Amino acid sequence: MADQTFVKTLKVVFGVLVGSTIGILALANVLISDADYSHETVIQENIEDRIRPVGNVHLTGEAVTVEAVAAAEKIEPVQVAAAAEKSAEEIYQACAVCHGSGVLNAPKLGDKAGWEPRLAKGVEQLYANAINGMGTMPPKGGRLDFTDEEIRRVVDYMLDSVR
Ligand code: HEC
Repeated sequence: MADQTFVKTLKVVFGVLVGSTIGILALANVLISDADYSHETVIQENIEDRIRPVGNVHLTGEAVTVEAVAAAEKIEPVQVAAAAEKSAEEIYQACAVCHGSGVLNAPKLGDKAGWEPRLAKGVEQLYANAINGMGTMPPKGGRLDFTDEEIRRVVDYMLDSVR
């Protein structure tokens, strides 16, 4: 009698196990087939991602654009806003220490008499002296972080004040 009960219980347990296994498999099948990607596509993409070359050789001679590189690398180009160009007035603040007050006999902004003899040298020479320094004026007025172009721009701004 005890054996019969045991066998019965065993059958029920097996039944439940087999049933739930089939149920889980069926559910998994439904879930996989419902997904946008098949399992294989995802694996394939992952593999392509991992074996993608770090760099791309560019041999065609055409201009390399951010978009082209991004496309080749399958990445979204990050649009970095170009650093806002400093206005001449902004740059001039660094020159104003001396050129505002005429410290060390620096020619003052708007002072025609101070600038006229210098203008006679030609603008190019003034640019060069502003960039390289002259007498007691240090190169770029001590602001080596300014580009040559920015210095030329602010020299134009200073010269405009006496024109
Ligand atoms: C530390 C003071 C000082 C600062 C700051 C300064 N300058 Fe000068 N600058 C001078 C002095 C002094 C002179 C006159 C030098 C001389 O004649 O020997 C001068 C002369 C000049 C001249 C005339 C050069 C020539 O050939 O006659 C220009 C142009 C000039 N500065 C541009 C600038 C610009 C642009 C800046 C800012 C980026 C600047 N300076 C910042 C002191 C300064």
